[in-house]
Amino acid sequence: MTTRPGTTPLPQRRQILLVEDSSQVRQVLARALEAENYAVHQAEHGQAGLALLKRITPDLILSDINMPRMNGIEFYKAVRQNPAWVPIPFVFLTANDSAEDIQAGRELGVEDYLTKPIEGDDLVRIVNARLLRVANVQVAQIGQAYLDTVTMLANAIEGRDPYTRGHVERVTAYALRMAEAMRWPPDHIRNLEFGARLHDIGKIIVPDQILKKAGPLSDEEWALMKQHPTAGAKIVGGIAHLQGTLPYILYHHEHWSGGGYPRGLTGQEIPIEGRVLALADVYDALTTVRPYHPARSPAEVGQFMTLKAGALFDPSLVPVFLDVMGLNNKKA
Ligand SMILES: [Fe+2]
Repeated sequence: MTTRPGTTPLPQRRQILLVEDSSQVRQVLARALEAENYAVHQAEHGQAGLALLKRITPDLILSDINMPRMNGIEFYKAVRQNPAWVPIPFVFLTANDSAEDIQAGRELGVEDYLTKPIEGDDLVRIVNARLLRVANVQVAQIGQAYLDTVTMLANAIEGRDPYTRGHVERVTAYALRMAEAMRWPPDHIRNLEFGARLHDIGKIIVPDQILKKAGPLSDEEWALMKQHPTAGAKIVGGIAHLQGTLPYILYHHEHWSGGGYPRGLTGQEIPIEGRVLALADVYDALTTVRPYHPARSPAEVGQFMTLKAGALFDPSLVPVFLDVMGLNNKKA
């Protein structure tokens, strides 16, 4: 399914609970909503509304305030007392002269009011907008939960190596600065946030004694270490939502002039994601203490990167990196 950027499609046949004592008003509103493909469940007062809620979970509740048996305020209180019904958006239908009712509702936390008489078009527009807002909030919450889960996974992998604590977060932050400076579109930035966090996930195949080794690695150990990009790509490869992270995972150890791993690509053959991440990754590795070297100063590392532009790094990206890191014109 394709969607225009910035829009979230609403699933078909959203359910609306309409609580209103005037059958005439109820019919008019129900017809307007049904014409827009909403399924409308009608109740003539709060008590009947509560009875319906035991059978259906609507996407939105529209309720009058002045009704016999159970009025709208009492109905709202009862709805909000049930944890299962708390997330349902609630919109009051009020008469023009009911300032006291509106005040009572505000004190309970009600945000939405529609003033009667209500035109069908207005009702549909407001219901659509309210549901779209709810859907967008849900999408944002799911996205955040997803990112939190990936961060937890990345931290668990990184946590095995005490020398790289905070590495993933810093590398992500540095790479994000570059992407923002280059005005990458939001979907690319989103992939970067996941890709930068997961770039070393393949290190799960590298045993602790190799990860924590202070001396140089043997040929076999080094050969295993060099498999981490392809191992990471295999782990993530089957997950549809993480396809955009693959260029970060696979290509962050490629060198501009060749000789990197896993594929030994050169220049523009290396996807931009890998070229950007290589800068952030190497910068963080060199400015922090590792088993095999002390931490170097940012300015010293900036000079090293300038020296390696066109060898290790994309020469057009090195100035961008130095710029976003505030390292231009700094002496070591
Ligand atoms: Fe790596």
